[in-house]
Amino acid sequence: MNVRVDARDKVTGAVHYGDDRVPPGLLYARFAVATIGRGRVVSIDTEAAEAVEGVRLVLTHESGLGLKNSGFLMSGQGFGFQSLQPLASDHIAYRGQYIAMVVAETPHAAVHGASLIHATYEEEPFSVELDADGVEVFEQSNFIPNHVAGDADATLEGCEFVAEGVYDHPAQHAVPMELHNTTVMWDADTLIVHESTQNASSIQAGLAAQLGISAEQVQVISPSAGGGFGNRNSLQMHTSLAAIAAQRLGRPVKALVTRPQAFHNGSFRPATRQHIKIGMNAEGIFQAAVHEIDQQTSRHDLFPALFTEVSARLYGIKNFRGHQRLIRMDTQTPGFMRAPFEHAATFAFESAVDELAVLSGRDPVELRLLNDTMVDPISGLPFSDRHVAECLRTGAERFGWSARNPQPGSMTAEDGSAIGWGVALGNYPAHVVPVIVRVHADARGGLRVEAGGHEMGQGLRSALMATIADNLGIPASDVTLIVGDTRAVPQHVTAGSWGTASAITPVHNALQQLRERLGLPETGPVDLAAAVTAAGGATVTVESANRGPGQPEAIFDRLRSGLVAISGPQYADHVSFSHSAHFVEVRIEPSIHRIRVHRVVSVIDCGRVVSPVTAESQVRGAVVWGLGGSLREASEVDPRYGGFLNSDMAEYAIPVNLDIRDIDVSFVNKPDTKFSPLGAKGIGEVAMCGVGAAIANAVHHATGRRIRKLPIHLEDVL
Ligand code: MOS
Repeated sequence: MNVRVDARDKVTGAVHYGDDRVPPGLLYARFAVATIGRGRVVSIDTEAAEAVEGVRLVLTHESGLGLKNSGFLMSGQGFGFQSLQPLASDHIAYRGQYIAMVVAETPHAAVHGASLIHATYEEEPFSVELDADGVEVFEQSNFIPNHVAGDADATLEGCEFVAEGVYDHPAQHAVPMELHNTTVMWDADTLIVHESTQNASSIQAGLAAQLGISAEQVQVISPSAGGGFGNRNSLQMHTSLAAIAAQRLGRPVKALVTRPQAFHNGSFRPATRQHIKIGMNAEGIFQAAVHEIDQQTSRHDLFPALFTEVSARLYGIKNFRGHQRLIRMDTQTPGFMRAPFEHAATFAFESAVDELAVLSGRDPVELRLLNDTMVDPISGLPFSDRHVAECLRTGAERFGWSARNPQPGSMTAEDGSAIGWGVALGNYPAHVVPVIVRVHADARGGLRVEAGGHEMGQGLRSALMATIADNLGIPASDVTLIVGDTRAVPQHVTAGSWGTASAITPVHNALQQLRERLGLPETGPVDLAAAVTAAGGATVTVESANRGPGQPEAIFDRLRSGLVAISGPQYADHVSFSHSAHFVEVRIEPSIHRIRVHRVVSVIDCGRVVSPVTAESQVRGAVVWGLGGSLREASEVDPRYGGFLNSDMAEYAIPVNLDIRDIDVSFVNKPDTKFSPLGAKGIGEVAMCGVGAAIANAVHHATGRRIRKLPIHLEDVL
């Protein structure tokens, strides 16, 4: 089956996102935010807000909320996008933090009320840039070892060619179409939460912890999210406040975080600086590499930097030294955003590889083929499967790479635009997380499948439906698929491109169990109605639980507790990654030097392609991300006042239709059966990795300019 199962529902408005829920008696909540970079609230005046017609409640840190901290998701022991809960005290950690929530009969009254909140502050010095005075430097090796093999520094000394550079990447924000929101209501002692999320169980467990109730008393329902990108991977800071308001007022409450507020109360890609050195011998073999990273984090949480996890595995470089440091400053905690580390890491590393090709006069495709490997230099373990060479060869063929004149500035279009052709690789870890699947077959031939996983537009429903329909030979109309719903089965965070790869195994296993229970053959189309009727007619239920290779049985306790439980990319006897190769043609106009991506050829090795139509769409989307991440998107910080300046869709530039031209997508499509029985690995993020470097390398080819920062703007190529 190769259809997007929710396509019709999407275009007819039948898909219900969290914000579409409007229960009777609904009240609306909006926030007021801090206007200082750091300090504490001395006084807060809510009288004017309370006097607005329709305002029912104003919550501040003086409201006796008694909220417990939800902890930080990526600490491994928490649930929140950050551990800082606003309104829990008078402390202001960063500009833009919530200081009050106003609840009213109408959105207008809530907005008006929030605008009338007035606070006075005691200000403290703050830092919001990597180089600023007052940041704290934290060695990440205190809790995550650096990737190291051999002796990179000594080996570099003797190398024929060395490429060295410092690469800057700004903070960037996910701008999902659906704003952060939640709609909460109490049914006696049960809290019902309608909220678009990538992690329903973290909201469930986190709210329970914050409110001092049991997780069984919380239901989180998220059938579809209007975009995730890492921005919705945990409990958000507004949800418990809405729950308290709903309890105090005895009515449902919908809280909405405006776009500018989401720039300060949601996660973002942290700013980074990378120092790269790669050394190569006269034969074109990479001998050694050093990859050092400084990554922004907040004062209150350590968001790990995982750059060298990919850069150490791009090639067979035997001497490698990774070094990752976290720079603590006064912002909200950064987080996962669209290949959070891997996009920037491959931008830097693959730019340096291009530089080696230029320095040595070697073709960039040939040079990469020369340094391919089937063994991970860090662990010494083999890759479970790896088709980098095929990605490169197929891509070169489809792109027409052999017609490239290697001389920078040598190719020109009819309109006088400089043409640049660039290539780069991407890689992304192949993870597996625990997933429980429950299947109910009834005598009318209906199948209800409850699975762990979230649909945020990437196509999980289509992939699982394809797995079900292909297995049983039944139409999608006979199947009810429940995802993102804690009332069904536990819901581990869906991120890191592991959603489909993790869920299809237990779906498949559950269906095989169902066949066995019903006395059906192991393969081939089935008549479910007849089989269930023959078995007595009562609904037949089977359950299958799958975990990552090497994960203990107790990992399901973490799953049920709403905690992260990620395995890979290093497993007991292999390492597993998805791979990509991107070929890019840029054209730079002679007059205003506008840089346009004229065409992209992307070849992806993600093992088995489960759902071709959504897989291709994911790659196209990821290439657009790459284009946005490389030519448009930068969250500008304000060192004078703190916070992010361009915090709306007018000022935060993202690609528009006119920026997107031809994107040619193809897949190696060879199942990696050493990784998992069905052999499917992640697609979503690997397809973005390397796009930035391919664009930068193409810009170099067009202009002779090596740009070591993103985004690349026209003033960089004047
Ligand atoms: Mo994604 S940034 O792993 O949700």
